[in-house]
Parts: sequence; C-alpha cells; structure tokens
Amino acid sequence: MRTLRFDETTLELVAINQTKLPLETEYIRISESRVLYQAIKELAIRGAPAIGVGAALGLYACALRFEDKAPEGFLYSFDKTVEYIASSRPTARNLFYACGRMSAASRQGTSIEDIKESLKNEAFSIEKEDIELCRAIGKNGEKLIRDGAAILTHCNAGALCAVEYGTALAPIYEAKAKGKAVYVYADETRPLLQGARLTCFELTEAGIDTTLICDNMAAGLMAKGKIDLVIVGCDRVAANGDFANKTGTLSLAVNARHFGVPFYVAVPSSTVDLSALTGDDIVIEERDGAEITEKFFKNPIAPESVKTYNPAFDVTPGSLVTGYITEKGVFKSI
Ligand code: MRU
Repeated sequence: MRTLRFDETTLELVAINQTKLPLETEYIRISESRVLYQAIKELAIRGAPAIGVGAALGLYACALRFEDKAPEGFLYSFDKTVEYIASSRPTARNLFYACGRMSAASRQGTSIEDIKESLKNEAFSIEKEDIELCRAIGKNGEKLIRDGAAILTHCNAGALCAVEYGTALAPIYEAKAKGKAVYVYADETRPLLQGARLTCFELTEAGIDTTLICDNMAAGLMAKGKIDLVIVGCDRVAANGDFANKTGTLSLAVNARHFGVPFYVAVPSSTVDLSALTGDDIVIEERDGAEITEKFFKNPIAPESVKTYNPAFDVTPGSLVTGYITEKGVFKSI
C-alpha cells in the first residue's frame, strides 16, 4: 500500500486520507500550503515518517506554484511556507527533519529553476530514503521474532505511517514473508483509534493473524504470558533514549518491564533528535478534548461541563527499552 506519492503529471502530492480509513479509501491532492497544513494537523497525513515525507513532497508541490519572478522573492515565499508547515504539529521529529532538509536544499542554486530542481531532488531523496529505512528496520527486527511469536503493538506504525511498509510493523511483515507464523495483538489506541482503524486494517489485508484489544487489556495479556514481545514506533527519540510515541505507550512499557516482556522501539534515523537531551526536551502535542468525549460517537459520551486532558503522546524512559530497532541494527542504546 502506498500512503503518499508525487503525481508527476499534475505535480501534486497525493495522500491517502487516513481519517477516512478503513471505511473509505479517499485520496487528497495537495499543491497548496493551507491544504498541506490542514492535512497534517487534522491527521489525514499522520505517523512520524509519513508526516516528514508528506511535508517534503508537499513543500515541493507548493513551491512549483509560487509566482515570484526573482530568486530572493521565491526564497522568501519558501521560507514562510516552511515555517507555516513546521507549525502544523509539534512532536514528530520527522517534520522538522524534512523541513530542515528542504530549507537547506532551497539554498542550492541561483536561478528559480535551479532551486526548484534542488527541491525536487531533495524531496524525492527523502521519500526514497524512507522506503529504504523501513525495509532495513524490517530485516533487522525480523531476527527478534521467533516462529509462532505473539507481538503486541500500539498505535499505527505500519505501511500507513510511512511511504510504504512502516517501522514497528516492518519486522512483522518480514517475519511473515520468511514463512514464520506471527500473531499480533493491536491496541485500539484511544482516543482516535489508529490501532483499530489502521493497524488492524493493514495487518488483516496482509493476511496476518490480528486480534484487536482495548488499550487497558494489554497488562492482563502480559500477566497471562500471552505476549512474547512488544514492538512500537516512535515520533521522536532523545539522545538518552527517552522517546515520545502515541499516548499509552508509557504504560505498556511499564507493564512490559513488570511482567518481563521484551519491549522494542522501531526507530529510523529521521526520528532521532540529538538536540533533545532527554524526554523532557520533547514537546508533547495536546489536542482538543472533543477527541476524547465525542469524535467517534454519535452523541457526546461525557457531560458537556467536564474538563478534559488529551496529550497525543507520552514519553517513555529509555531505561524501559530492551532495544532500538534501527536501519543499522538493533541496539541497547541510541
Ligand atoms: O497522532 P499520530 O497518528 O500521528 O501518531 C502516530 C504515532 O504515535 C505512531 O506510533 C508514531 O508516529 C510512530 S510511526 C513510525
């Protein structure tokens, strides 16, 4: 499944609208900064790697439409657009990584045509690298999965979170491709249900034996010895190994440590932020409380006057991580 692609005929970014899955497969065409910003902010494009690649290809599509006639004006417009897109969501490192690379690429070349060519090359490189990183994570992580293993995952870190293949689910796809039997327990991932809507959709499409559970059932499964290992993705990893991932990951890691279940994080280098020394330096996005109280329900499920607290991510200390599955291998520290 291809989450994102650049249409070379219309010169637009084409992205699956992830908020509509699994009921509808709708594609959004993006060539305008406001649409790109909304697509990322409202989670049509979501998952750290997809956000990064979407930003890169989307920025290139936007730049092709600038009407500036001189390079100085073009670069001014590009800088403003990068700044705007970088403000769409605060946590996933890949967004800032991609914006930084596209900014640097905009300084290669003196004419507008040269700059556009440089932006095209950089955006396509970021897209190609994403595919390669995910494939390598799959190959390295597959070795951790024995034939017949039961794996627990949280949120969506499969093909839909990247250009294709994904991060945390890549080792699972690879294990299946090698003929191993694999069983996945997918946390539903409240409040927006990425696990139920996206992970279960893509795993069942791939023919992988998948069981959906509510987030609060994971500890019970671990206590019964039903989980061999946990693999999750991440949105940003700090230099000391602390990492941010979808809210609920921290309690999984604590439970895994308590029950002696190995806990792995799949991490492409585009998600590592060495300027964040610890998890305290990672900005955690707080989203609208309506996501908790009503978004997926016909009627509000809580009294209107109730207060809400809705951090989209939490930070798990590196001390709870058994290993980081990267494109270069599996490591005990970052
Ligand atoms: O809010 P989302 O859906 O963008 O959150 C996504 C996650 O938390 C994923 O687990 C994370 O991006 C890892 S995907 C490699």
